[in-house]
Amino acid sequence: MAQKKLFFFLLRLVAEANAKQCPPCGSTPVPYPLSTGADCGDPSYKIRCVNASLVFDTVNGSYPITSITPATQRLVIRPAPFVSAASCVTTDLPDHGIQLKDSLPFNVTSSNTIMLFNCTTNVLESPLNCTAASLCHVYANATTDAAACGPLPLCCTFVTGGSTTAHSIRIRERGCSAYRSFVNLNPGGTPVAQWAERAGLELQWALPVPSELSAVESRQEELKDVTKEEQRRW
Ligand SMILES: *[C@@H]1O[C@H](CO)[C@@H](O)[C@H](O)[C@H]1NC(C)=O
Ligand SMILES: *[C@@H]1O[C@H](CO)[C@@H](O)[C@H](O)[C@H]1NC(C)=O
Ligand SMILES: *[C@@H]1O[C@H](CO)[C@@H](O)[C@H](O)[C@H]1NC(C)=O
Ligand SMILES: *[C@@H]1O[C@H](CO)[C@@H](O)[C@H](O)[C@H]1NC(C)=O
Ligand SMILES: *[C@@H]1O[C@H](CO)[C@@H](O)[C@H](O)[C@H]1NC(C)=O
Ligand SMILES: *[C@@H]1O[C@H](CO)[C@@H](O)[C@H](O)[C@H]1NC(C)=O
Repeated sequence: MAQKKLFFFLLRLVAEANAKQCPPCGSTPVPYPLSTGADCGDPSYKIRCVNASLVFDTVNGSYPITSITPATQRLVIRPAPFVSAASCVTTDLPDHGIQLKDSLPFNVTSSNTIMLFNCTTNVLESPLNCTAASLCHVYANATTDAAACGPLPLCCTFVTGGSTTAHSIRIRERGCSAYRSFVNLNPGGTPVAQWAERAGLELQWALPVPSELSAVESRQEELKDVTKEEQRRW
């Protein structure tokens, strides 16, 4: 068993050494397995390099990538802006907010504090904090960014991590019309005027399965199937 593990570990090392890392996008390095082209990276980890900036595509939209931390397989995307300063609607409301493609190996980490604004009573369910003291009121009251949301009665705050937020930050006409997201926000220790410096949504990618490994695994599956077939025949 231990030998088998070691074998797969070595296989992974070899595969990663052989895999081609993509060239930088502008001056931003693109670490493996992220892939900006057909001939580099791992195709399951497709992102785009547009005008020397990296972009992350969701089901319905695209968001700029503001940082990448390969050591922890994390990247941060910039959430959509408000439609205008007078509006408590973010531009991705028609797209229903951020919806990660289920088929891709990315999810939302548990480090994000999400504020949902201009909500209807439809959203009044745990674990959202929609009380008058909720951080979303503090933020909307104290900043110009979300000022248009300040007078609206219902907003909610929560920290990501549950399965419901693993692949989406959902907004909709009959729910909440805008959101803000902050990475590793420490609301008690940071003045509200500085929260915007933490704006972003942190995502994580799963480690790739090297192609040699998948080849071996599918060969094993084939063998299993053959064995089953043999057994059935007997
Ligand atoms: C790329 O930049 C050029 C020049 O600034 C601009 O005209 C073009 O619209 C940009 N393309 C995209 C896809 O943003
Ligand atoms: C609040 O949301 C509703 C429904 O999505 C929208 O029509 C309205 O303009 C929003 N309010 C503000 C101040 O943006
Ligand atoms: C994408 O946007 C369309 C409307 O533009 C909407 O009908 C659809 O449900 C959205 N997809 C998701 C996954 O929310
Ligand atoms: C909601 O958040 C506020 C501010 O962080 C906190 O004081 C309050 O206890 C929370 N309420 C609930 C029900 O979690
Ligand atoms: C936000 O402002 C409203 C209206 O001025 C006020 O009633 C409310 O107490 C404030 N809430 C917080 C959390 O600062
Ligand atoms: C996200 O994916 C990582 C790596 O696959 C996993 O360890 C983590 O539990 C996932 N997080 C959530 C909230 O699903």
